Amino acid sequence: MFDFRPDPDTPKPEAYRQLVDAAEALTSGEPDAVANMANVAALLWDFLPDLNWAGFYRVVEGELVLGPFMGRPACIRIPIGQGVCGKAAGDAQTQLVEDVHSFPGHIACDSVTNSELVVPVRRNGEVVAVIDLDSPSRARFDPDDAAGIEALSAAIADRI
Ligand code: SME
Repeated sequence: MFDFRPDPDTPKPEAYRQLVDAAEALTSGEPDAVANMANVAALLWDFLPDLNWAGFYRVVEGELVLGPFMGRPACIRIPIGQGVCGKAAGDAQTQLVEDVHSFPGHIACDSVTNSELVVPVRRNGEVVAVIDLDSPSRARFDPDDAAGIEALSAAIADRI
C-alpha cells in the first residue's frame, strides 16, 4: 500500500517537493506509461484539495487525446492550440487560468470548473502530454502550484 499524507501546514514549495518524491517513488522502475499516469493522477487527486478534475492528455498524431484522470468523464480529443490544454501543448507553456470563463476558447468539459492549471510534459524537447488540473474555485492555482506541477512534469516525463 502507498500512503502519502503531507502535513497540511507544510509550505507549498516543500509540499510539492514531497509530492514529486512520492511520484518518483510510485513510478520508479515501472515501464508502463498508462499505469504511471493513472497513479500520478490518483496522487494529485489525493494530494490537492479543491479539484474537480486531475489528469493527463497525451499528444497522439498531432492532437491531444484523453489519458488517465480522476474526475468526471471529459472531452476525448482536443486540437493543439484550442482550449487551455491545446494552448499549453501548442506553446509548450504552462497556462495558469484564474477564471476559465475569461479564457478565449476554453473548452468546458464540466460546467463546475472555474479555474485551471495546465502544464506541458516535455521529453527530448517535444511536448508529449499535458497535466491538467481543474477547480470549482476561482483563482485556485498560484505560481507555487505552477512551479510544483512543472517539477512533477519534469520528474515523470521519461516514465509516461
Ligand atoms: N478545459 C480544458 C479541457 C479539458 S477538461 O477541463 C478536462 C481546456 O479548455 O482545454
